[in-house]
Amino acid sequence: MTVAAVIPAAGRGERLGAGRPKALVEVAGRTLLEHAVDGIRPVAELIVVAVPADLVEQVRSLLTDVEVVAGGEVRQDSVRAALARLPADVDIVLVHDAARAWVPVDVSRRVVQAVRNGADAVIPVVAVTDTVKEVESGGEVVRTVDRTGLRCVQTPQGFRRDVLVRAHSAGATGAGATDDAGLVEALGLTVVTVQGSAEAFKVTTPFDLEVARALMTSRSAGV
Ligand code: CTP
Ligand code: MG
Repeated sequence: MTVAAVIPAAGRGERLGAGRPKALVEVAGRTLLEHAVDGIRPVAELIVVAVPADLVEQVRSLLTDVEVVAGGEVRQDSVRAALARLPADVDIVLVHDAARAWVPVDVSRRVVQAVRNGADAVIPVVAVTDTVKEVESGGEVVRTVDRTGLRCVQTPQGFRRDVLVRAHSAGATGAGATDDAGLVEALGLTVVTVQGSAEAFKVTTPFDLEVARALMTSRSAGV
């Protein structure tokens, strides 16, 4: 079965506030996007990246062996634009955030294997470690949520290609979904989980970028 990876990288990185799209911020001399592409290469025969329209040419010269397309207004538009470029022989699609640049390859392998074993949709997850409370708009606690059944969701998320295309097609009712698996859930299909990793964290804030830089420094020093 042919595996392709779709990497939405067309966000503006507003919470990071680096003055440029997050995917093009550098850590250890390479952009987050290049790190993310490197991480997914071992499990994907081809890769399609969606970037801001004005950066398509720049990213094409940075990543000569991947397909680069213009993304859209919201993440789902970017994923859809990349999906539209997949050749006919692709059976399994991984959707992977450019902002998760250090996903251990074992996580991606677990995701692909679960789809190969017959799952429609697979997500890597980690346990919630903080206590979780529901809070009303004024800031007062309503209740403490039982966290035993809660998980934090990462990428790459893996899908049978036809399922993902259907989930993204017009008429899918997952408008509020913040991930691709949410669109599959909206179809009433089953999404299964595999073990994720702390290293699959998403660079969202300046603190996350500091963590990423410290991680890269300690790795290159062999710590
Ligand atoms: N993404 C995308 N197209 C968009 C919005 C987001 O391809 N229109 C991508 C981002 O580039 C990122 C991933 O989706 O790789 C996860 O999104 P997020 O972490 O929210 O990144 P940004 O949207 O760039 O950040 P922010 O929300 O802080 O602006
Ligand atoms: Mg965003």
